[in-house]
Amino acid sequence: MGNRPIGVFDSGVGGLSLLRELRSLLPNEDFIYVSDNAYAPYGALSPVDIRKRSQALTQWLCEQSCKLIVVACNTATTNAIESLRKTYPVPFVGIEPAIKPAALQTKTGVVGVLATKGTLSSGLFHETSSAYGEGVRILEKEGKHLVQMIESGMLQSEEIEQLLQTYIQPMIEQRVDHLVLGCTHYPFLMPILTRILPQHIKIVDCNGAVAKQVERVLNKKELGCESQNLGSTTYFCTGDSQSMRQFVSPENVIELSIP
Ligand code: DGL
Repeated sequence: MGNRPIGVFDSGVGGLSLLRELRSLLPNEDFIYVSDNAYAPYGALSPVDIRKRSQALTQWLCEQSCKLIVVACNTATTNAIESLRKTYPVPFVGIEPAIKPAALQTKTGVVGVLATKGTLSSGLFHETSSAYGEGVRILEKEGKHLVQMIESGMLQSEEIEQLLQTYIQPMIEQRVDHLVLGCTHYPFLMPILTRILPQHIKIVDCNGAVAKQVERVLNKKELGCESQNLGSTTYFCTGDSQSMRQFVSPENVIELSIP
């Protein structure tokens, strides 16, 4: 039972930032990663379409006998995880912007959140910000174009740095002391972010906390694999494998269609 794989999906390469944490915390587990890049970016899709894609990927991962599914995408989690939980018996762990720790720790009382339009307009995001954001100003900013630029390999480019600067400068001027990365693609921008953000601003991403939650669920449901299992990852993408090849060697990426 426990030696079945863990399914992980995102609209693209973003979920690889979470997969990195999962693999280091759970080195014996087998993972199946799916980048749904034929339909990316999810942030621009309607909630109905985000749910349709999340269902299609979940269905396919269940057919691969996955024992747990990690929704490695804030946009899919905030728009679809409830309906996934209602439809599939497999346990799910999702990721959503880490407003709670930022709101609890802020000294200036101002917290910035950078996320996709789909996440910022979701009901779950609004519930979380009103639950934890009392007495705290939450400055929301859509990271427009960032996902597409990361997918197309512009990670270290001057253009992406300038675009980030335009998103973040107004937050700095309004005295944020925490910046929440509300999209799994954004941790890949860490080198640029640490360069352009003043040192006192803390960057909050919850990949580590989500990996720990996966470990807790595996333990609770007694789904962890045997300790002698070597651990492996298989990578799939629904579109061109070019963007995955920035992070994974080409021979390890399999293109497939999931309608
Ligand atoms: N990595 C996804 C997220 O965490 C990106 C969504 C998109 O494709 O726009 O929200």
